[in-house]
Amino acid sequence: MENNKIDRREFLFTGVKGLVIGTLALSSFDIIKLIARNKHEESSSPAKTISISDYPELASVGGYAFISKNVIVIRVSNSKFLAINNICTHKQCSVDFDGSSFECPCHGSTYDKHGKVTNGPATKNLKSYKTTYNADDDTLTINM
Ligand code: FES
Repeated sequence: MENNKIDRREFLFTGVKGLVIGTLALSSFDIIKLIARNKHEESSSPAKTISISDYPELASVGGYAFISKNVIVIRVSNSKFLAINNICTHKQCSVDFDGSSFECPCHGSTYDKHGKVTNGPATKNLKSYKTTYNADDDTLTINM
């Protein structure tokens, strides 16, 4: 009888131990898969090259144009451009650009033309992308 109690306890303990180890193993596997997927997405994130001539608004300093649904390019000098994602970092509304700053229509956050927060409630800057201008062929590469 006593042996049966011990066997039952051992059985339950072994079962719980197996469940814990199994759960941890599955969690680790999911984390490894998640890390691998993120690395793949980072490395496969494409750079986009545009011809400035396709965007007449970018022909002069101060001009700006959307080059995709949420990415706006702003020409800040003859050879320098900004590429800013216009999704508000507060609750993901699309922010408006007036030529010098961004303003969110949802809760009023504002950002300068570099995407830096100038007024909350947003606390994080807009996402920006590295740009490389090639004067030889008048193209701009945006690392998105
Ligand atoms: S979503 Fe932009 S300020 Fe709230």
